[in-house]
Amino acid sequence: MVRDHGRKKKNDSITGVIAMLVVSLAIVFLFSLYLAAWRSHAIFASVLIVIILCVFVFAYALVRGLRLLNDKRRTETQAVGVTARLGRILDDSWNEIYVFHGDSYLFLQVNRGALANIGYSMEDMERLTAYDIKPDFSRESFIETVRPLRNGAESFLIFESRHQRKDGTIYPVEVRLQYLPDEDPPIFVAVINDITKQKESAQKIIELSESLERRVEERTAQLQKEAAHRLQVQERLRESESKTRQIVNSAMDGFVTINEIGTILSFNVAAEKLFGYSANEAIGKSVAILMPPEPAAKCKSYLEHHLETGHGNANVASREVIAKRKDGRTFLAELSVSDFQHNDTVTFVGIIRDITARKEDEYKLKGALQDLRNTQAELVQAEKMASLGGLVAGIAHEINTPLGIGVTAASHLDEQARETVRKFAVGELKKSDFQAFIDMAVHSTAIINANLRRASSLIRSFKQVAVDQSSEEKRTIRLLDYIDEILLSLQPQIKRTALEITLEGARDIEIETYPGVLSQIVTNLVMNSLLHAYDEGDEGHIEISATMDEKNVEISYSDDGKGMSEEVRTQVFEPFFTTRRNSGGSGLGMHILYNQIIRTLGGHVTCESAPAQGTRVVITIPRRLECEPQDAGEPQ
Ligand SMILES: Nc1ncnc2c1ncn2[C@@H]1O[C@H](COP(=O)(O)OP(=O)(O)OP(=O)(O)O)[C@@H](O)[C@H]1O
Ligand SMILES: [Mg+2]
Repeated sequence: MVRDHGRKKKNDSITGVIAMLVVSLAIVFLFSLYLAAWRSHAIFASVLIVIILCVFVFAYALVRGLRLLNDKRRTETQAVGVTARLGRILDDSWNEIYVFHGDSYLFLQVNRGALANIGYSMEDMERLTAYDIKPDFSRESFIETVRPLRNGAESFLIFESRHQRKDGTIYPVEVRLQYLPDEDPPIFVAVINDITKQKESAQKIIELSESLERRVEERTAQLQKEAAHRLQVQERLRESESKTRQIVNSAMDGFVTINEIGTILSFNVAAEKLFGYSANEAIGKSVAILMPPEPAAKCKSYLEHHLETGHGNANVASREVIAKRKDGRTFLAELSVSDFQHNDTVTFVGIIRDITARKEDEYKLKGALQDLRNTQAELVQAEKMASLGGLVAGIAHEINTPLGIGVTAASHLDEQARETVRKFAVGELKKSDFQAFIDMAVHSTAIINANLRRASSLIRSFKQVAVDQSSEEKRTIRLLDYIDEILLSLQPQIKRTALEITLEGARDIEIETYPGVLSQIVTNLVMNSLLHAYDEGDEGHIEISATMDEKNVEISYSDDGKGMSEEVRTQVFEPFFTTRRNSGGSGLGMHILYNQIIRTLGGHVTCESAPAQGTRVVITIPRRLECEPQDAGEPQ
């Protein structure tokens, strides 16, 4: 700005000289015109004009010289005044102000603030140049920096730099530099701002912004991670949804979902097959299309109730319902319904299975089971009859012997008696003959008597056992006596073996029971021992013992035969289980025994056996029959 002012002053003086010349020429021109009018005084006029011109030129030169002198004086006064004026202004300024020489760069004036900050006295400063206090500058670089000011390319410069204090510390500054070439001497005025605080603030701002940036970056990374995770979750959700849809579609059961007012929302492939509707046809329609009118009305009222009250848990165990196909045909279905809540709306999921075939199978199975039960009952009956038949055969054989002997003895007696009568009639009967006849008659009678008694005994026991086996009437028996009778009836079979059977226990044990059942049980046990426990001709010992307490009687039956493998033992009570099917075993003996002990006698039975360890069957039955025969359940 100072530089501009100088130029203006120069321009003003040139303009003044030109104006004066123009005025002079104008006067000369006017005067020449006057002289042209007055030709007679031309020489005088010309001389006068020259004189006037000279006076003008002289006067101008004088004025100009005086003005220049005055200007110079004023400039000198101003030069002294600049520093003085500046000194006052500078000292009062908040800024640090340095004035230094335009050529030597030596400091001319430094204000109070600057001296206080930089730590030098004014005397020190006068010995220093502007670049001495700037550690970042050499003389050359400084000259280079201020060149635009010096050559007038810039009117001022603003740049950041650093100042070094007397104590060596360095602080950042903002320099606002001006060049005043018109000053004498030309000077630079530098207005300095200590920007330590700004720098610190800027640093803090940078740090803050860096930390902010970092946090933004971290947060962005975190958000990106979250977004990626969310994407992954969504992807997984989509996958699981599609899997669920696939599973639902590949399920054998029909899946139908409905909303709270019964509109079908989804309909899987199995449902399409079951009901004959395509998913497109069914979705959006009322669920009532899948049921006959009555269940449809029930379903509707359920949904209305649910809508009104929000109550009614649909998660119920599966139940059998009648469903309706598109073609109107109905079928028996198993339905289980569950509900789930999502965003305040309830969706019901129905899983439907056509159970027509299953029901038919169940029906057939029931029929087959009934047939089996009937067959089993028939077999049990047949077994009874067979054992009765066996008994009859055995008894017949047994009775045959004494009766045969009796008949033989009686025939012999009859024959001898006829002979004796004939001899007596013809007078040939001798005393010795008669004596022999009497002896023979006594002997034969004894034989007949003994054998008839034996037969009678056999018939009595046969009758008793046979009646018991077929009638199933309960009565009180003396247990051991009754078992004796059973064993007697089994004598034909036992006799053929080398086995010894012993019966032990108190003879006064009495029980109220079905004797026929007891007979069948003992017969089965003995026959099993004879058939399965021993080979032909084996010696062995079968022991039957009975004990009692207040309530029960325990019958222990054991043989010392071959015993059973674990596999056989665990199945011994199963119906139709036999290891002798080829030899006519039906596998019902032990099953009937089990059933009768449990069901008919209200007792229980266990079987212990191991290979070569014999078999022991322990039967516990109440001494009094308390209830009617019942179902035995499954054998254990
Ligand atoms: N005392 C025993 N010793 C060894 N094995 C035995 C004995 N009692 C039964 N068993 C085994 O148990 C099986 C089943 O006996 P169960 O009486 O039920 O049928 P079964 O005797 O084979 O035929 P049946 O119906 O003619 O009696 C027999 O086949 C046999 O293997
Ligand atoms: Mg048997």
